[in-house]
Amino acid sequence: MNLKSKNIISIRDLNKEYIETILSKAEEMEEVLNNNQSLDIMKGKSLANLFFEPSTRTKFSFNAAMQKLGGQVINLEDVDSSSIAKGESLIDTIKMMEKYSDLIVIRHPNEGSARLAAEISSKPVINGGDGANQHPTQTLLDLYSIRRLKGKIEGLSVALIGDLKHGRVMKSLAYALAMFNAKLILVAPIGLEMSKEIVEELIEKFNADILQTNNLVSGIKEADVVYVCRVQKERFEDAYEAEKMQKAFRITPDLLKYAKDGLIILHSLPKTTEIDPKVDKMKYAKYYQQTFYAVPVRMALISLLVK
Ligand code: NCD
Repeated sequence: MNLKSKNIISIRDLNKEYIETILSKAEEMEEVLNNNQSLDIMKGKSLANLFFEPSTRTKFSFNAAMQKLGGQVINLEDVDSSSIAKGESLIDTIKMMEKYSDLIVIRHPNEGSARLAAEISSKPVINGGDGANQHPTQTLLDLYSIRRLKGKIEGLSVALIGDLKHGRVMKSLAYALAMFNAKLILVAPIGLEMSKEIVEELIEKFNADILQTNNLVSGIKEADVVYVCRVQKERFEDAYEAEKMQKAFRITPDLLKYAKDGLIILHSLPKTTEIDPKVDKMKYAKYYQQTFYAVPVRMALISLLVK
């Protein structure tokens, strides 16, 4: 399947064949990394990282991926030190960056911003997170992680735990897991449930098997995979409210007494208080391994999209 010059804006734009192409390319890239090799297929090409919101893993793993492919990276390091601070519009920023680069990765607080960038840019655009909406490349590496660690996606019970109302990672992932016929257990504190529209969409499009609960124990008992995200404090009007919810929802060793033996715990990171640090040392915790998979998956994406 030819993906050259395509944009990756929403998981809804990708079908199974498209995703499979990316995941199998990522396997090849992981082999390159495991053999301590690097490639030069992106020699002379550059990737522009435009981050209007904080990022560690997404930005640095795109950097690492481009460098492993022999390419260059241009980073918009600090919005306050660029012309954006002088009032330059997103449209003008994109019109300029497409002249300096072969692929644009954008993270922006406004929903729909990545779609707008893709409409303007003649170079492919990747959505690195637009507000509380979508984060499709995180989903690709999450699918890759599940497959590498559990051997399959289809038929697994995956519990998505945390702020399902604002978590863009969870919205993208729920869609992809339904597409791949996993069973979804949606576990959220009261008030932070996944929107009814999304749940209905997944049932309508994929006939998805979905259990919704506010109870952590019942979420964990059934799960083959537990995927946790933090309460997205920056999307709340009242920070105190966010902290209260955060404290009430926490994965602890005690809770994991209910876990299936082969359970894996994933987290897009950054984590705050939603996972007890004691869990980091337990056999279930795979989130640091998951951060490694970001590099081969993003190498795959870059190599498939850039002409
Ligand atoms: C996530 C994001 O930015 O949406 N982080 C990431 O990309 N790894 C999750 C989060 O911030 O909670």
